[in-house]
Amino acid sequence: MLKNTPPTQLQAWKQLQENFITDKRTLKTRFFEDPERFDKYHIHFDGILFDYSKNHIGSLTCSLFSKLLDEAGVREALNQQQSGDKINVTENRAVLHTALRNISGKPIMVDGKDVMPDIEASWAQLAAFSNEVRSGKWLGYTGQRIKHVVNIGIGGSDLGPRMVVNALRPFVSKDMEFHFVANVDGADLFEVLKKVDPETTLFIVASKTFTTQETMTNAQSARDWFLAQKGTAAEDIAKHFVAVSTNAEGVASFGIDTKNMFEFWDWVGGRYSVWSAIGLPVILAIGFQRFKEFLAGAHAMDQHVLTAPWNQNIPAMMAVLGIWYRNFHGAASHAILPYDQYLDRFAAYFQQGDMESNGKYVNRNGQKVNYATGPIIWGEPGTNGQHAFYQLIHQGTDLIPADFIAAKKPQHGLKHHHPILLANFIAQTEALMKGKSRNEVEIEMRQAGKSDADIERVAAHRVFEGNRPSNSIVLDEVNPYHLGQLIAAYEHKIFIQGYIWNVFSYDQWGVELGKVLAKAVLNELSGSEVHHEHDSSTSALINYLKSK
Ligand code: F6P
Repeated sequence: MLKNTPPTQLQAWKQLQENFITDKRTLKTRFFEDPERFDKYHIHFDGILFDYSKNHIGSLTCSLFSKLLDEAGVREALNQQQSGDKINVTENRAVLHTALRNISGKPIMVDGKDVMPDIEASWAQLAAFSNEVRSGKWLGYTGQRIKHVVNIGIGGSDLGPRMVVNALRPFVSKDMEFHFVANVDGADLFEVLKKVDPETTLFIVASKTFTTQETMTNAQSARDWFLAQKGTAAEDIAKHFVAVSTNAEGVASFGIDTKNMFEFWDWVGGRYSVWSAIGLPVILAIGFQRFKEFLAGAHAMDQHVLTAPWNQNIPAMMAVLGIWYRNFHGAASHAILPYDQYLDRFAAYFQQGDMESNGKYVNRNGQKVNYATGPIIWGEPGTNGQHAFYQLIHQGTDLIPADFIAAKKPQHGLKHHHPILLANFIAQTEALMKGKSRNEVEIEMRQAGKSDADIERVAAHRVFEGNRPSNSIVLDEVNPYHLGQLIAAYEHKIFIQGYIWNVFSYDQWGVELGKVLAKAVLNELSGSEVHHEHDSSTSALINYLKSK
């Protein structure tokens, strides 16, 4: 069982409150006063640089961060999680995505059983299958090799593989194209089916529960489409459909032979499942060896979070900084801004990862909390965002802490673009921190020959207050290993935050009600009778949408 203390009762929390009130120095002042600031507030770990010096912190804040982590018992909680304790209390499950990347050979016990032999068997099955497909040995119903892979899944069964295949495009086999279908809106599947050839397409039906309405509907339609092709028969399904699930019964009753099923386990949360067989599209795309590098990167981060001192611990610092802004500075959102086109789904991925985990208003005692929990996570790649929403980050009325992510080395041949990209990455964090004063604006305008009247009319609008915090995260390169590290760092950050906020981060009851109501509404949408049993808005919408 995880400890169960409201964070507001911790001494460090109260001291942070005091620190917040008494130390209002600006970021600019902090840098001016302390030329060693970067040296003090950065972490360099195994090919990742984490610079957190552009934050509203000083040495006292940092020591209170460590105190908070200690007082809350974070080290113990991390150990409990990684050693298989049933910390997902509301679902009575362990939370062991870390076991999926446990390449150490050490056993991990759940209910008295070592889970590693099953994981290793799953690695062998995934390696053998992916080798067959990638080498062209696995043949479709007309004897052709697989050229298209279509992953049908949603949420954690979609966003992870989609983001990672995308992020690792430079490592992806040139012999196959990868497609992802998630939305129950028929347009999603329809557009993919237009692009693929039934003779050379492998469908992966990915669903932890194998009951998700969207995935089951898309999978059924894909199967109908396949069987409607000339020359296909029911026995050909085995060559073109595989399943990834924890529900063997569901897979069999859908009509997929369980020989073609890749298993995972209930102690893998959907949004943490990319490390399991849910990563099959990734394995097909980059090969099992590289997938192992991806796991190895995550494993290195799992060790780092367990052992590194707090001020040298990337996920722990990310977590407490997030809490600092959410609970003390009142920031409602947190932006993830990758300066790397290959990471263009990274923020979307952690929108689920973070918001489904920590979007909770009830604490581990089942009582309503009286402090803020998970923030809104959002973001898009730089530099596109600069020309879209950065205006609000620079001059809006909200404080939006942001993670800027970049790679030292690009993964493409247009090398001369990279310094331009990196210059923007650096300049944005500097501009957010420093801002531009009224005096600087006036001097600049005078030098440009503007009149006093012009200056009076415009200057206020050109002032940047600055003092806006950011983290800079630099990977040596976006390769499987460093991507594994980066994702794992965010995962641990989410757990540490949820743990300190005293919420359960590994259930997601909040998505259930909508699902149940959708089923009821679906029945009502299909009949001819007029409905009045809902509120007037809901009933009117149902009746309007089914009217001719
Ligand atoms: O509805 C939310 C959710 O349960 C997510 O947590 C999960 O990732 C997604 O649906 C898909 O679930 P499944 O893999 O069981 O289809």
